[in-house]
Amino acid sequence: MTIWCDAKTAVQVVESGNNVYLQGMSLTPTPLIEALVARGEELHNVELYTALTFGPAPYTDPRWVGHFHANACFVATSERPAINAGRASYIPIFLSSIPKLFGPGGPVPLDVAFIHVSPPDKHGFCSMGPSVDFSRAAIDNARQVVALVNPHVPRVYGHGFVHVSRLDYAVQWDRPIYAVPGEAPDETQRIIGRYVAELIEDGSTLQLGIGAIPDAALQLLTDRRDLGIHTEMFSDGVIDLVERGVITGARKVRDRGKLVTCFVIGSQRLMDFLDNNPAVKMYPVTYTNDPQIIRQFDHFVSVNSALQVDLTGQVCAESIGTIQYSGVGGQMDFMRGAALAPHGRPILALAATARAPKTSAGTPPSKYALTPVDGQISRIVPTLMPGAAVTTTRAHVHYVVTEYGRAMLLGRSIAERARSLIAIAAPQFREQLERAAYELHLFS
Ligand code: COA
Repeated sequence: MTIWCDAKTAVQVVESGNNVYLQGMSLTPTPLIEALVARGEELHNVELYTALTFGPAPYTDPRWVGHFHANACFVATSERPAINAGRASYIPIFLSSIPKLFGPGGPVPLDVAFIHVSPPDKHGFCSMGPSVDFSRAAIDNARQVVALVNPHVPRVYGHGFVHVSRLDYAVQWDRPIYAVPGEAPDETQRIIGRYVAELIEDGSTLQLGIGAIPDAALQLLTDRRDLGIHTEMFSDGVIDLVERGVITGARKVRDRGKLVTCFVIGSQRLMDFLDNNPAVKMYPVTYTNDPQIIRQFDHFVSVNSALQVDLTGQVCAESIGTIQYSGVGGQMDFMRGAALAPHGRPILALAATARAPKTSAGTPPSKYALTPVDGQISRIVPTLMPGAAVTTTRAHVHYVVTEYGRAMLLGRSIAERARSLIAIAAPQFREQLERAAYELHLFS
């Protein structure tokens, strides 16, 4: 039986030593988190499991060491300082594997899940709106479910319905969910978007990650026909293409005619687009990110980004040296799935440079580090920074795109890779890169 109560009462269900899941992204249940943290003095060793929570993360405050410990499967901005200070932890994991943590026999039996859903419909079903992902597994496996029930959560078709009787504690809440308005791409992102768009043919099925580059690519696809979406997440960029009749999903081998995803991040306009829209189908991440499913789509194009790529093609997309920045996410799930798909195209798209960080923040020096030029560093590097995580291996990488062009690495030797990556590095770094490549005997 569901107990309807306030947040303070609902969070009493958490006991010391419990494993607690916090839903993330647009549906981060901030009032429940705040009510839980208000009980901090009386609770000890509560393990919190998160993946890209939005809003504040008060449980990471130094005063709560020994009371709350966050374990992030994807690092949120608010959790990053605590993780890099050692007060919270990062779990390297494919997004598609997160449900395994909580499932039968998994390493993280959940005591409590904090979630955020729409009010029940006339049949008693609440919608998980824009976040089905791994929250589905949390709800299905947690001993107790505590929910914010909020009319601002859109009702989205697919596998995100939860019967109200599954909620042990329900807290009525009537505030907008977290919205992330899209940003217009800058000139660099527009050029990268053009190189990416050139690889997308009529009838392709797309995975386009978050950010300005995927949106820039989408803006250039207005003359394509019958594109499909099978992705981990999408944002505002898809709406215009659906409205123009470019994204139809008509040639998809699975879920024909549907935009398939496991979460959505974007503006209020995007949430309105999702609401009661039969063209959208939300699935758990175990389906959207399964390479065995992805590989079935002819002409599957996957677009992801990176922080650094070394001259052999190793990709770091989650750390800046020893500093944990984000997470593995679905990058490898989709890079592999796309590589296996007939005519599949896994693409890594990144700006050739970044602003030089003000400090090295404890990252050990590298013999092959390039000298910054005009306050910029190259993201194509001789070797990854010491401590950098390899998110995608060099054997998985096919296309790398920057504003200076495209490099195709599949089947290419180390020497060929180094040459083609130097050719798409920023011109002011090419000489340094060549020198390092000689020193490393990548070519002679
Ligand atoms: N060295 C130091 N700093 C660097 C850097 C480098 N090599 N490359 C980037 N940065 C800095 C940027 O300057 C920027 O700093 P700022 O926030 O102070 O402006 C920051 O890191 C982020 O870089 P940006 O290019 O804006 O990244 P993004 O927001 O486009 O995200 C990833 C890129 C790689 C971090 C992101 O795509 C990711 O987390 N990927 C892994 C998960 C994944 O691919 N999932 C599947 C798709 S949803």
